Amino acid sequence: MSKRIGILTGGGDCPGLNGVIRAVVLHARNTHGWETVGIRNGFEGLYEQQYVDLDPAKVQTILARGGTMLGSSNRANPFGYPLRMPDGRVEIHDVSSRCIANLERLDLQGLVVVGGDGTMSFGQKFIEKGATRIVGVPKTIDNDLEATDYTIGFQTAVEVVVEALERLATTAESHERIMIVEVMGRYAGWIALTAGLAGGAHVVLVPEIEYDIDKVIAAFNRRSARGVSYSIVVCAEGAKPKGGDYAVAVKGDVTKQDKLGGAGQRLAEVITERTEYEVRTTVLGHIQRGGTPCAFDRELATRFGVKAVDLIASGQFGHVAALENNKLVGKPIAKAVKKLKLVDPHGELARSARAVGIELGD
Ligand code: F6P
Repeated sequence: MSKRIGILTGGGDCPGLNGVIRAVVLHARNTHGWETVGIRNGFEGLYEQQYVDLDPAKVQTILARGGTMLGSSNRANPFGYPLRMPDGRVEIHDVSSRCIANLERLDLQGLVVVGGDGTMSFGQKFIEKGATRIVGVPKTIDNDLEATDYTIGFQTAVEVVVEALERLATTAESHERIMIVEVMGRYAGWIALTAGLAGGAHVVLVPEIEYDIDKVIAAFNRRSARGVSYSIVVCAEGAKPKGGDYAVAVKGDVTKQDKLGGAGQRLAEVITERTEYEVRTTVLGHIQRGGTPCAFDRELATRFGVKAVDLIASGQFGHVAALENNKLVGKPIAKAVKKLKLVDPHGELARSARAVGIELGD
């Protein structure tokens, strides 16, 4: 039997995942003559042994398609896995040993784990438990992985937000309103700040900078005093007022994180309470995660997929494909998951925003 490698996509999906799958399958076959087996729904499929044989014909046309043909799950933590008991109760179990046994049965040259910080940290734990033939590809629209300048999915999300800002600006201007746009990004403000800069926002609120509501209102007043009676606010879902907390829509548990949501509406209510401005809120939500990947993400997905196969071929297990100063490199997974990459409140991006008059609320 010819040699084969495996691939799974874990955590929240994002545009570009199919591009990684395609590049892995094509490079593995074309360059090494290896087959590729896809594991369904992240680590869930490894536990449940749900596999699909992939070949060039199956992946040839998926480059421009969003989502992931393998499915994904952000509740599939093999070290704290929800198992339904015969009496209907759900118990949390560590199923990692069974996953490793399944992996051994698959007899792979290597496994490509495509994921964000959660999925990567499971990959790292597997390596520490002895399943060493793992390499990673960083994906998340949040762009918050320390290992790489860019994760796949981020640029597409930014494009979506920028288009929304431009659309909302014209209606905001017509009605002299304050438009708040709540965007994803959880604990990192990369989407909010990058899209705010590219989309000409007037106020950008990110999780890394607790905002002072007086400063936000002062920004509207300054514009109003100049005769401009509308403003566009980009509010990250993880934005917090000074001394306040995250806006949590659904409380998490051991199997899943808190679901954030409501930061924009909370801000709208305070502005309405304290001023005469008319305010509307738009929550972009999963629109940012769906649809066609932009050209940058298709290109990055292809390069990351190729690099992942290279890492396996050269025995550099325990590494993720990463972009560093526009060079493709391999970085240890352990380093990639050590801490989140956050916006530096005093870094160049924030400085550029302030320099062109964007209020960051600090
Ligand atoms: O991490 C990616 C992300 O899209 C975050 O920006 C967001 O908070 C979260 O996933 C939403 O997750 P779910 O798809 O479970 O609602």
